[in-house]
Amino acid sequence: MKKGLFSKLMAAFIAIIIVSFVMTAAFLSYWFEGYYFKQRESELLKESQFIKYKAIQYLDGNLTKDDINDTLTYIGNYLSADIWLVDNYGYVYSVSKSEHKKLIATSKQIVTSDLKELRENETVDKIENYSEIFTDPVHTFEVPIFSDKVFKGAIMMHTSINELKEPLKWVYKIIWASAVFAIVICCIVIYYLSQKIIIRPLERINYAADKISRGEVEKRVEIRSNDEIGELAKSFNSMADSLQKVEKNRREFISNVSHEIRSPITSIKGFIGGMIDGVIPLEKQNYYLTVTYSEIQRLTRLVNDLLDLSTIESGQLKLNIEKVDINEIIRLCVIKFETRINEKKLKVDVHLEDDKLYVAADKDRITQVVTNLVDNAVKYVNENGNIKIFTKIKGEKVFTSIYNDGSSISQSDMKYIWDRFYKMDKSRTSKISTGLGLPIVRSILTQLGEDIWAENKKPDGIMFTFTLKRV
Ligand SMILES: Nc1ncnc2c1ncn2[C@@H]1O[C@H](COP(=O)(O)OP(=O)(O)OP(=O)(O)O)[C@@H](O)[C@H]1O
Ligand SMILES: [Mg+2]
Repeated sequence: MKKGLFSKLMAAFIAIIIVSFVMTAAFLSYWFEGYYFKQRESELLKESQFIKYKAIQYLDGNLTKDDINDTLTYIGNYLSADIWLVDNYGYVYSVSKSEHKKLIATSKQIVTSDLKELRENETVDKIENYSEIFTDPVHTFEVPIFSDKVFKGAIMMHTSINELKEPLKWVYKIIWASAVFAIVICCIVIYYLSQKIIIRPLERINYAADKISRGEVEKRVEIRSNDEIGELAKSFNSMADSLQKVEKNRREFISNVSHEIRSPITSIKGFIGGMIDGVIPLEKQNYYLTVTYSEIQRLTRLVNDLLDLSTIESGQLKLNIEKVDINEIIRLCVIKFETRINEKKLKVDVHLEDDKLYVAADKDRITQVVTNLVDNAVKYVNENGNIKIFTKIKGEKVFTSIYNDGSSISQSDMKYIWDRFYKMDKSRTSKISTGLGLPIVRSILTQLGEDIWAENKKPDGIMFTFTLKRV
């Protein structure tokens, strides 16, 4: 994946750079060639003024043939050009190089098709072959000669194309070498930047993800860039945080479960071992069997609670929603706790709104909720304490509250009472509690789409309230 992304990026960038540089270089070369030829033409045009002057002098008989030939030779050498003079019919009468003198002797008309333009006082610019005279094609520039507005012929100036292009070749080389150099530099810069901005951060995230998947949940990525990659790193880290939290909860849960199971098993093992060894005398065996039995009961309850919680939390619990009388459930529940209420000499007030109060709920599960809350109230209230249970209609909802006086829960504990295995007073409750009551209550109500909360009451006491939908 890494290599793929990197090579794709590089390929795209390089293609763009090459295309743009090649286009620039091609445009520059084309432009420079045009510019170069224009310069050459204006140079030739400038020198042609003097030749024109000399040619008219010659045609007027004021200059000898040798003089005009010498002039052409001199200027031809200076311009690196072959210069011919043609008369008004296109016949050559003077040349700059002696080897072209044969043109004067022959009666061959050199200029034919261009005569029309020249007569109209226009210059002609062309690339010609003249195969019998020049080996290479030549660039020919023709300038008309007029004397007293009468057409007197023209000046022809030829330059070998190869010779002409010689300096251009150098310029092309420089342009293309710069383009290649720029492409190489750009590639290096892009390579460096893409590595720094994208590839390496992605590799680091990938590395951290790999470590986390192998169990090193505390691994994080250190990327602080203020862009999408930085955002990705941030999201990745917060995802790793939650994973770490889940992992921590899982470890704590396993350790809690093992701890909760180990203590009853240890005491059961101790008692039974004592009976087998005869350490516990026969007359005391009945007592220890009772203790063992209650430990087994505790163990059974713990396992049942755990199973309940895992079924509810995994969403596998099938709720059987029906029309349930919450008042009736509360009454039955209080009756269930009668013995314990009497033992602790508690005063229980039950204020129920209406005789029957129907809600949409799963009867068994809502009985479990009320039982757990009443169980807590009875368990944590002081002797001779007060318990109040009441129902109230609020719009579409029925609020059920269970209050007990005496104890209150500190703000710091309040956050944790819904956590599995959380027990505030570990020494006092460890024998009779597992810390699974409230988590079960909350899971059931969450499954029903309802809410539950706890609040400390003034001057003392604590109240748990949950909602249910009225039908
Ligand atoms: N009515 C209450 N008054 C005072 N403290 C309470 C009350 N209800 C719950 N608590 C505190 O919240 C903790 C968690 O309650 P929860 O019902 O989950 O566990 P438990 O009662 O200790 O064990 P279990 O319900 O599994 O037997 C309790 O240990 C207790 O400290
Ligand atoms: Mg409880």
